[in-house]
Amino acid sequence: MPSSRLSGFYKLSVEERTRIVAEWAGLDEAETAMLRQSLTLAQADKMIENVIGLHALPLGIAVNFLINGRDYLIPMAIEEPSVVAGASYAARLAREGGGFHAETDEPVMIGQIQVLDLEDVEVARAAVLAQKQRLLDLANRTDPVIVRLGGGARDIEARIVPESPVGPMLVIHLLYDCRDAMGANTVNTACESLAPVVEEITGGRVNLRILSNLADRRMARARCVIPPHALETKDFPGPLVVDRIVEAHALAAVDPYRAATHNKGIMNGVDAVVIATGNDWRAVEAGAHAYAARDGRYRSLSVWEKDAEGNLVGRLEMPLALGTVGGATRVHPTARLALRILGVETARELAEVTVAVGLAQNLAAIRALATEGIQRGHMELHARQVAIAAGAVGDEIDWVVDRMVAERVIRLDRAQELLADYRGRD
Ligand code: MEV
Repeated sequence: MPSSRLSGFYKLSVEERTRIVAEWAGLDEAETAMLRQSLTLAQADKMIENVIGLHALPLGIAVNFLINGRDYLIPMAIEEPSVVAGASYAARLAREGGGFHAETDEPVMIGQIQVLDLEDVEVARAAVLAQKQRLLDLANRTDPVIVRLGGGARDIEARIVPESPVGPMLVIHLLYDCRDAMGANTVNTACESLAPVVEEITGGRVNLRILSNLADRRMARARCVIPPHALETKDFPGPLVVDRIVEAHALAAVDPYRAATHNKGIMNGVDAVVIATGNDWRAVEAGAHAYAARDGRYRSLSVWEKDAEGNLVGRLEMPLALGTVGGATRVHPTARLALRILGVETARELAEVTVAVGLAQNLAAIRALATEGIQRGHMELHARQVAIAAGAVGDEIDWVVDRMVAERVIRLDRAQELLADYRGRD
């Protein structure tokens, strides 16, 4: 496998970048062309209702990612500038400490069945648990394909919710291994098929039968260690940057106002991969924020600490219900190509990559915030766009960008003047 450490990738033209990625993923001409064309109107019309057009997003590639010893190029679909650059930069920092280490739980989702109008919730609960195997067998009959692939119903839990606006209720959880599917359809079907039997067993009335997006049995975890020298900048020694990042995390650990923004930075990376691969980003968002508030107080999903050797150690843990089959993952042509570029074999591997990107994105944001602030990075990107608009090419771009950023004047007329100066030099 070639290295994903691609220095200067951002300086290449769209054509050159595409050629590198196509070679990396073994895409043929038609597939490469598809990267630009994406979804057709006819395909869109089959996906949702009342279609009148398409809504496009830029698809960028984050480079430098080393995850579990393997190199990845990361497709990211996002409208916000600096995100792809930030992920690539943070991945380069993490490489210095051996890259990201990521792991996931088995792909087990939770389906909920709400039971009401019970004479005795305790008795109903015991009755459900006594007939657990019958319910599991029934759930397994709803999707023989997943069962054949090694997935299927794993367990039944029964929770008493003693107080609610409509009185006590029993909530049955079906734990279901969805293998490479996100699982919403499979789990919802299984819950619906169990409902009449649950009514028979409990004597109650079933209302809701639906997947829970708090997928806390399907957790993904990433970790990285950054040596302080990697964090050094012109103005900040590495150990100081480590301390400042640890301080930045401390606020997110205790203050929901900061935690929301800190986690938004994580989701910039996570969502961009989730969207690029045709997965359900609302489900992932819902799970992430519910998990962040699991102990009754909303907190940061990641932790940043200093180890005994002075290294910066980052950890991110979040529910991540992603699929590599089903939904839009194989229907949407760009999503299919994004999976090819990633080269992931399973939904678990996709979640491991995605959680690592989330951690990288978080590092990029808090490193910038704890040092020079994020506006400088934005300014550089903006200056680059203005320099290119002024006609700069190749080395001219960096030269014009450096001067505009130093002068803090990012304007087309200034870029044109600088470009004329540069060209007049020889
Ligand atoms: C902006 O999209 C994301 C940040 O606000 C994240 C953060 O503050 O950590 C920069």
